[in-house]
Amino acid sequence: MKVAVYPGSFDPITNGHLDIIKRASKIFDEVIVCVLVNVDKKGLFHIDERVKLIEKVIKPYDNVKVESFNGLLIDFMKEKEAKVIIKGLRALSDFEYEFQMALMNNKLDSSIETVFMMTNAKYSYLSSSAVKQVAKFGGCIKGLVPDQIIPDIMNKINRG
Ligand code: PNS
Repeated sequence: MKVAVYPGSFDPITNGHLDIIKRASKIFDEVIVCVLVNVDKKGLFHIDERVKLIEKVIKPYDNVKVESFNGLLIDFMKEKEAKVIIKGLRALSDFEYEFQMALMNNKLDSSIETVFMMTNAKYSYLSSSAVKQVAKFGGCIKGLVPDQIIPDIMNKINRG
């Protein structure tokens, strides 16, 4: 069985992430979305809240599940006996950071491969940070994130 792990901060999940999940679910037998801590980012949502938001939107995909992990991605991979990491690439600006992470993960465990999927062009400008910024200053986030989680995001932002 080909298991792939799609790791990220998902703070919160966007339509760009969901598009990658949907496409990956057609290629792999199982896709595990893994919410991890990015030490360089200050989070808005608690990890458990991010998992709950993802649970809401992956329901249509039978072979997709979500988990969180506090530690190194490769340790989660070992636990799941997964060998493939999926990452989405939006623009050239993503490349250096993603390339570095892929090489580091491969250095830590040489049996791990990172597979990059090109973002859907219609989401190439989209990021969780941009969504939070638009929401914070009263802009409309419809079309940027799944409709089901818009109220959760607005509540969180409005509560500060
Ligand atoms: O969505 P992001 O913030 O680009 O995802 C980055 C993430 C969370 C996948 C990355 O920071 C990560 O893997 N964190 C866990 C710690 C780890 O394994 N780091 C990789 C070695 S550099």
